[in-house]
Amino acid sequence: MPDVFQSIDEIDADKQTMIAERLESRAAMPKFVAVRDAYFEAIDLPSVGHLLELGCGTGAVCRAIATWPGFEGEVSGSDLSESLINTAERLTDAAGIKGIKFLQADGQGSTAHEGDFDMVLGHTVISHVADPDAFLSEALRLVRPGGRVVIHDGDYASMTFDTGAPEYDKVLPAKYFDAIIANPFVMREMPRRLSQMGVRSSEAIGAVVLEAGTGEYFPGIIRNYAPIAVAAGVVSDAETAGWIAALDRALEHQSFFASCNFVTYVFEREA
Ligand SMILES: C[S@@+](CC[C@H](N)C(=O)[O-])C[C@H]1O[C@@H](n2cnc3c(N)ncnc32)[C@H](O)[C@@H]1O
Repeated sequence: MPDVFQSIDEIDADKQTMIAERLESRAAMPKFVAVRDAYFEAIDLPSVGHLLELGCGTGAVCRAIATWPGFEGEVSGSDLSESLINTAERLTDAAGIKGIKFLQADGQGSTAHEGDFDMVLGHTVISHVADPDAFLSEALRLVRPGGRVVIHDGDYASMTFDTGAPEYDKVLPAKYFDAIIANPFVMREMPRRLSQMGVRSSEAIGAVVLEAGTGEYFPGIIRNYAPIAVAAGVVSDAETAGWIAALDRALEHQSFFASCNFVTYVFEREA
């Protein structure tokens, strides 16, 4: 079952809008801002040079880089989806941020020049692409010799829910992933994938996003992706309705729990 993020331009307009809004709202959630800022600091985000975000979606991470204190470099963002690139341009103009270049391109292989960038980032993209190794090779091809590649994403296989309904909590996440996350194990596979490519990661930075009692991000996954999972045929209406009812009860009683690990890997292209 293909991941919806591989074909955003082909889905209904209302689902495209929901996804764009979710990307923007997640980027603004304090927990996710803290995780992103912590890894920007840990990797010592360069203040000069040309940075590329592969799979930039609505451009939230590109804008965070462009407005990072002291940043004086150039930012480009590319994405497979033309409609998300249009949204990224519109939101960036509306925010009055100048100088970010957005372009439509496949992060698994493109005509962009080899070695054009000082740093290449992939932020919550590798879990969605059809071919993670092709994505890693393209990132390494685009960065200059000696430049760094930064891959940040959820170890989504670690995502766990407790709505008080184990018949849904233990079964439905994996089914949802069939429709929305092509590679839920990819972040734990990264050391092995990089080793097979002859690349050594210099850093692995871990973070946990956790919501207890109440929640914002994880309840949104259960609710917002229900129509996509149903349309993909991986869950039934009755299952999503049952899970959402359990979620509503858990939120009402402040008994909800969900968490997921996130990892950032940093590695260099050989000089
Ligand atoms: C979860 S979104 C992340 C967007 C953005 N990086 C962020 O964190 O807000 C995943 C993105 O990957 C893009 N994508 C999926 N496959 C891709 C590919 N082969 N090349 C480039 N982008 C791709 C989707 O269009 C989508 O914008």
